[in-house]
Amino acid sequence: MRTPLIAGNWKMNCSVEEALRLLDEMLPRLSAIQGVEKVVCPPFVALAPLARALEGADVKLGAQNCYFEPKGAFTGEISPAMLAPLCQYVILGHSERRAIFGEDDALVSRKVRAALAHGLSVILCVGENLAEHQAGRTADVVINQLQASLEDVLGLDRVVIAYEPVWAIGTGQPATGHQANHVAATLRSVLRGLYGPETAERTRILYGGSVIAANASEFVDQPEIDGALVGGASLKPDEFVGIVNKAAVRLAPQ
Ligand code: 13P
Repeated sequence: MRTPLIAGNWKMNCSVEEALRLLDEMLPRLSAIQGVEKVVCPPFVALAPLARALEGADVKLGAQNCYFEPKGAFTGEISPAMLAPLCQYVILGHSERRAIFGEDDALVSRKVRAALAHGLSVILCVGENLAEHQAGRTADVVINQLQASLEDVLGLDRVVIAYEPVWAIGTGQPATGHQANHVAATLRSVLRGLYGPETAERTRILYGGSVIAANASEFVDQPEIDGALVGGASLKPDEFVGIVNKAAVRLAPQ
């Protein structure tokens, strides 16, 4: 059985002070929810203070990006070696990185390998844009992204896949649970082909894109979906705690 995971991607929001306050507002309620892995991903500058605030807590910390080199003349970049003492996860291949900052699958795969080599767990994002969705190319696009982003990645022990259709991100127009489940099943079949059935069954696949507390069950109740990567709603304590609760309810005996 795969442990559900709910991750909050705070994107470029929150000063250090605001990040600490946001965590403070959620932490007691998040800590009280059992059986769900909870991750918050603040901006880089808030990682160290939040790591201190989370010492001994049952909530993990993630970064939103990293470079693949361990150190050197790469102005403005942050290495996985720098992140490893501060956080457990790193989001890689987010569609905003791909679309706004020109990251391609080859770069994403180098980052995935480097993050794993430094002991980080990776949330690897894939997803089609609106034109691709409307052209019926979703499966093609996500299969290609997944295969290419996992190039030379030897194992998936610390990899989580997030299916985030670009047209659903920040639009208030999520995919349907059925659509997302179908894509997750497709992604899992790709993993089966690349890594074998056991690894594919063990690997968690999240949905992301306009998830809020009110629609979270539609996704976390799907058999192929193991949690959510949450943007906007992760900045609202009641919403984020509500989403984590929906994932916990899925586990409760019926
Ligand atoms: P929203 O939940 O704001 O749609 O963002 C999703 C996302 O991009 C998470 O990484």
